[in-house]
Amino acid sequence: MYDYDLLVVGSANADLVIGVERRPGPGETVLGSDLSVHPGGKGANQAVAAARLGARTALLARVGDDAHGRLLLDSQRSAGVDTAGVRSGGAPTGVALITVDPSGDNSIVVSPGANARLSPEDVRDAAPLLAASRVVSTQLEIPLETVTEVVRGLAPGSRFVLNPSPPVELPAEILAACDPLIVNEHEARVVLGAAEAPSADPAGDSDEPADWARALLALGPRSVVITLGERGALVADDRTTTLVPSVRVRAVDTTGAGDAFTAALAWRLGAGEELAAAAAYAARVGAVAVTRAGAQVSFPTAAEVASLHDGESSAQEVSR
Ligand code: RIB
Repeated sequence: MYDYDLLVVGSANADLVIGVERRPGPGETVLGSDLSVHPGGKGANQAVAAARLGARTALLARVGDDAHGRLLLDSQRSAGVDTAGVRSGGAPTGVALITVDPSGDNSIVVSPGANARLSPEDVRDAAPLLAASRVVSTQLEIPLETVTEVVRGLAPGSRFVLNPSPPVELPAEILAACDPLIVNEHEARVVLGAAEAPSADPAGDSDEPADWARALLALGPRSVVITLGERGALVADDRTTTLVPSVRVRAVDTTGAGDAFTAALAWRLGAGEELAAAAAYAARVGAVAVTRAGAQVSFPTAAEVASLHDGESSAQEVSR
């Protein structure tokens, strides 16, 4: 019935990456490694991750008519992503300036460029793509009104997945469509309206992810996934809350691992898996991704995920 397992509507950036011993403070200069330029952007990353796993994937995005745009299109096509929905022009391709420290952690500044011109009209023009997609996934490096238009254009029966990164407070219309809403701890706090006024947090001052999950669900999403780094991921809907353990690996570069996690989760959900099982698979995909440098270049095939050795660990139901 559907031509695509996953349609990603989102950003495409050229990632300009420098390895550093430590990040500079205000007014400080540090020396880093040689510059690497990789295809990135949260939307483009998700599309490549899903396609590499075997999902029939399409991307709706906007790049500039420039060398970075061509780098991104080449990466999508060689992963097998349908790029008929990628618009070109209007502004330079988005760029992300990324520093990676020896622990593999990164800091990122994004210049949205063409991503900021991906408009509600672009989404309306892509109506056949939305109608042909079992799952539609977005992030927030594109305008919020464009994401709203995606929600309005969803085909009956298709599933909407959102990673609100970088986070903002979300309108009720978007929240109600999420199944799931996927957040890390920082994103959870911002979505809950806690960033500047912790006392306004519906989860109170709680450090308990299960409390955040309940508070997030109260905002309207049908399900929630909170990624907790080494502690794993908490998945919750109106019936159960389950902690899915992380997969222990030696991290080289965490850039894009969250995008690979989201893409894998979205694909497995579309294939009919339960949320906890899909999140456990997605954790394995993210784990492989952090063992290699770069974003898209680090994403595994399904065979590489299957051969990952991660010891014995199983999901635990936290509450019903
Ligand atoms: O999530 C990682 C991505 O964030 C990078 O590829 C960078 O482009 C930024 O969008």
